[in-house]
Amino acid sequence: MVYNEASRIFKLDTAHTSYLIGLVDEEGFIGHAYFGKTISDSNAGYLMRTGEPPFVPSQNGRDRSSFFDAFPMEFPGCNTGDYRESAIEVLDEGGHNGVEIIYRDHRIFAGKPTPKGLPATFGGDDDCMTLEIDGVDKTLGLEVTLRYSVFADADVVARSVSVKNASDQPIFLTRLMSASLDMDMEPVQENYKLLTLHGSWARERHMEFREIGRGKVSVGSTRGESSHQEHPFMALVSEKADQENGSVYGFHFVYSGNFIAQVERTQFDSLRVQMGIHPKNFCWQLKPGESFEAPEVILTYSAEGLGGMSRTLHDLYRNHLIRSPYKDKKRPILINNWEATYFDFNTEKLLDIAREAKKAGIEMLVMDDGWFGYRNDDNTSLGDWTVNEKKLPGGLKHLVDEVNKIGLKFGIWFEPEMISPDSDLYRAHPDWAIAIPDRTPCRSRNQYVLDLTRREVVEYVYHAVARVLQEANIEYVKWDMNRQLTDLGSVYLGRENQGELSHRYVLAVYELQERLTRQFPELLLENCSGGGARFDPGMLYYSPQIWCSDDTDAIERLVIQEGTALIYPLSTMGAHVSDCPNHTVGRNTPFSTRGNVALAGTFGYELDITKISEEDRAQIPEQVKLYHKYNDLVRRGDYYRIASYRENHFFDCYEVVAKDKREALITCVQVMRRPNYHSRMIKLAGLDANLRYRNEETGEVYYGDTLMNAGIPVQEMWGDFQSRLIHLTAEEE
Ligand code: GLA
Repeated sequence: MVYNEASRIFKLDTAHTSYLIGLVDEEGFIGHAYFGKTISDSNAGYLMRTGEPPFVPSQNGRDRSSFFDAFPMEFPGCNTGDYRESAIEVLDEGGHNGVEIIYRDHRIFAGKPTPKGLPATFGGDDDCMTLEIDGVDKTLGLEVTLRYSVFADADVVARSVSVKNASDQPIFLTRLMSASLDMDMEPVQENYKLLTLHGSWARERHMEFREIGRGKVSVGSTRGESSHQEHPFMALVSEKADQENGSVYGFHFVYSGNFIAQVERTQFDSLRVQMGIHPKNFCWQLKPGESFEAPEVILTYSAEGLGGMSRTLHDLYRNHLIRSPYKDKKRPILINNWEATYFDFNTEKLLDIAREAKKAGIEMLVMDDGWFGYRNDDNTSLGDWTVNEKKLPGGLKHLVDEVNKIGLKFGIWFEPEMISPDSDLYRAHPDWAIAIPDRTPCRSRNQYVLDLTRREVVEYVYHAVARVLQEANIEYVKWDMNRQLTDLGSVYLGRENQGELSHRYVLAVYELQERLTRQFPELLLENCSGGGARFDPGMLYYSPQIWCSDDTDAIERLVIQEGTALIYPLSTMGAHVSDCPNHTVGRNTPFSTRGNVALAGTFGYELDITKISEEDRAQIPEQVKLYHKYNDLVRRGDYYRIASYRENHFFDCYEVVAKDKREALITCVQVMRRPNYHSRMIKLAGLDANLRYRNEETGEVYYGDTLMNAGIPVQEMWGDFQSRLIHLTAEEE
C-alpha cells in the first residue's frame, strides 16, 4: 500500500491485483484509476483520463459539468453535475440534496479496525493493511472516511465508508453506498456480462448471467433480509472467462438486510458499479457530531475465471470472517426432526429417533419447530419460548438428559425475531410488532416481526433464548427467520427516525447473535431463514454454517449448492439427506446420491429414521463413514467446478483438492443416463501436474497432468440421478 506524492496516487496491491485511487486537481477530487490484475506503476494517473478533454475543472471551469459527467469518481456525490448514480445523498435542513466529497487527509496503517456492531472481515497487524481517505463536503459540514483493507493472503480489497456530521445542524442520509467504482471497460476489447444469484423459496442462489446494456441494471432486496430472491453479490464476468481462465470481478456485501447491487453503463461505456444498503425506505438522521458506519463490501478480481474468485472468497471467509470455534472443526452429524414429524412429536417420538440415529452413527438430535407454547401448527406461539409440557413431559431438561444418555448431543430450533398474533406475548404487547399505526400489518405465515429497534424487545428476546439454553445441555441452535419485513413502522421511533427501522433491525439481530455466542462460546449456531434467505457473509460472522435451502432434493440441490459454493466455502453450507418422494418436489432419487450431494456441506439427516426403508437405513453407517473420511478435505480444501448440470442438463461434477494437492475428492452426478454411451472423459483441475495419483476405486495411477489435460473416465451408471465419488491420493515419491 503506497501513496505516490508526486502523482497523488494511492496504490493498493494484493498478491495478484492492484487498486489505484487518484487525487485530481487542486480541488482534490478523489478518482478511481484502476482495479484489476497487478500493474507496476504508481504514477498511472493517466488512467483517469484527466489529460483529455473535457479538462479538469481548474482548466475548464466553464464546462465543469462535462468533467463531472465523465470523470471516474471514487465516491460520487450528487446534484452537482454527475448525472450517474451517486454514492451518497442527503437531505439537509433546507431540504436540499447536494453533495461533493473532496479529499482532505489520509492514513495508511497496519491492521484493520473492527466496526462497532457490524460484521466485517478481520486481520491482524502482520497480515493486513488499511488505507483511510478522509473527504469532506465543506458546505454541509459532512465528513466521509473511505476505508480500504488488503490482506497478505487474499486477493481482495475490503471497502467500507463512514460518515460524520460535523455541522451544527441535523443531516439526513438518504443513500450511502459502501462501494462505488467507475470502471473503464472498453467493450471493443473485452465485453463483460453480469452474474447474479437469483432465487425463491426452495430454489435459492441460481446463477444468472445477463448482458450489461446501457442504462442501469440492479438487483436488491427491500425485504429486511438479504432474501431468497436476489443475493448481495454480483460479478462482472468477461465473455472470454470460464471456470479457470479469464477476468472476473466479484462484489460481495457483508450485510444481511436490504441491499442494492447495481451496474450503470454510461454514455461512454464505462461501468459504474455500486453496492450498499438499499436506499428505498432508508433515511438516517445524523445529529451534529453523530456518525454512520456502512457495512463492508468485498471486492475481488480473478484472472483465473470464476473458480479463482470462488477459491479467493472461500479462503477469505474461512480465514478472515468466520469466528466460531467450529470453523476449523468437523461438525457433529445431526438428525433434524422437521421433515420427520413436522409439528407432530413428543418426547417418546424424539427418543425413538435418537436411539435409531445413535445405532447408525449419527451424533446429534435437533428438535425443530413446535416445542414451545401451544404450537401444533404454524399459526401460534412465536414469542412464547416456554416448553410445551404436553408434548415434552418433564420439560426440556428431561428430554435433553435422555438424549445425552443415548449418546447424542442435543440442538434446538428458535425463531426469535417473530411474534404470532395468537401468542401470550402479543396479547401482552401488541405494540411490539412492526406495524404502521392504525394499519393492520400484513401477515405472512400468520406471524408478525418483532420491533427490534426497541431495547426492551431486544432484551426480552435475548433472555428468552438464553434462559432456554441454560435449562439443559443444548449444544446447537438453529436460528430461523420465516418471514420478511413489511409495514415498516415502529411506535418507538420518532417521525424523523422511521427510515432507520430496517437497518436498526439488522443491527439488533447482529447484537443478539453476538451476545449469544459470547455467553455460550461453545454453542454451534446455524442460521436459517425459510431455508437460505439470509445466507450471506454478515451472518457468517456469527455462525459458521447456514441452512442452504428447505429444498433437500438432491437434483435441485446441485444447482443451489453450485450457486452457493460459487462464493461460500463448503464448510458453511447446511446440507442434509431427506426422505423420498422429496417433500418439496416429489422426486425420487437414490439414497446414495442424496448422501453424496449432502457430503459437500455440513452433512446431516432430515427424515424419520424409524420409518425409512431398511435398505435406506442400512446405508447410513456407510455415509457416516464417508463423512468422517472426507470432511476434513471438504471443509479445508480448494473447490473446483468441473461440469455443471445447470448448464448441460445431464451431468454435474465438482472437485475438492487438498491444499497440499495430495488428495482430491470428485463428486459426479449423472442426472440423465445417456443411452448407448459407456463413459465420459472428465478433465480434472487443481492437481499437481507432477504427482502421481491413485484412484482408490480402480487402483489405477496417473500423473496429475494426464488427469487434468486428458481426463479421467467416469463410467455411465444405470438410470437417472446416479452418482459416484472418486477419491484420488498422491503416491509416495
Ligand atoms: C423454516 C426452516 C425449516 C424449518 C421450518 C420450521 O422453513 O427453513 O427448516 O425449521 O422453518 O417451521
